[in-house]
Amino acid sequence: MTADRTGQPSEASSEGSRGDGSRGDERSSEARTWREGHWDATYANRGVEGVSWYQARPLVSLEFFDSLQVPTTSSIIDVGGGASSVVGHLAERGFGDLTVIDISGEALAAARERAPGDAVITWVRHDILCWNPPRTFGVWHDRAVFHFLTRPEDRERYRNVLRASLRPGGIAIVATFAPDGPESCSGLPVARYDAEELAAVLGDARPVRTTRVPGEGSTLRGPAGDALVPVASRREVHVTPSGARQPFTWVAFRRAPGTGDDSPATS
Ligand SMILES: C[S@@+](CC[C@H](N)C(=O)[O-])C[C@H]1O[C@@H](n2cnc3c(N)ncnc32)[C@H](O)[C@@H]1O
Repeated sequence: MTADRTGQPSEASSEGSRGDGSRGDERSSEARTWREGHWDATYANRGVEGVSWYQARPLVSLEFFDSLQVPTTSSIIDVGGGASSVVGHLAERGFGDLTVIDISGEALAAARERAPGDAVITWVRHDILCWNPPRTFGVWHDRAVFHFLTRPEDRERYRNVLRASLRPGGIAIVATFAPDGPESCSGLPVARYDAEELAAVLGDARPVRTTRVPGEGSTLRGPAGDALVPVASRREVHVTPSGARQPFTWVAFRRAPGTGDDSPATS
């Protein structure tokens, strides 16, 4: 097995080595096991309140839910939610359809303990990059996960899972380190983004569809059926438990309601 400078198994080195794709799959599963072990060890060693991304109250996340007027009937998935209290706060606000997915069982066990006793939350231990969502969601929330994807093929996988998970009219709220933020987190390199870059890498550059008008030589242009369009952004400086300042970029996207779809937006 080869390894990159962080010690993780290098998936890129195995690509194309057999031609039938199976060797690449084996290497991917090795990398997945490495990622699980890394995150479990991080939470076990530092404790949920000792990790740099810990926040007692997820203020910016809740601010986005407020400003985008997300109804409490919406289904929410917190992607790489770890031991975050986001879903607990949403449960207290009356949201009843809450899911957390994370690669770390340690983090999920801690999150479960911290969640309000009466909250009904679905906990999924899985690598988001190879998850096949069994249903769709009205809101996709990701704080500090996407920025760990430094390989274009992993970003593409993430985009695909996001698109398979988000229903028409749904909202994706994604936060990464800003260009002046840290270059690594938890010992892993990260990709940093300003709002335009994040919108470009996750959203749809050309969110339009072209429709021929019958009997006329002209066309109408409107939102593509599944376009992911940035609708809001902001910068935040997160202060870690040890007092370090970490600038973040937040972007919220809305998926076009789609054509002929009558499901209520974000539910
Ligand atoms: C920096 S932490 C952020 C945790 C949480 N979102 C928060 O704001 O407190 C990154 C989280 O992503 C999880 N993670 C990393 N890679 C993942 C993957 N490929 N699939 C699912 N979860 C992943 C880690 O276990 C960890 O909980």
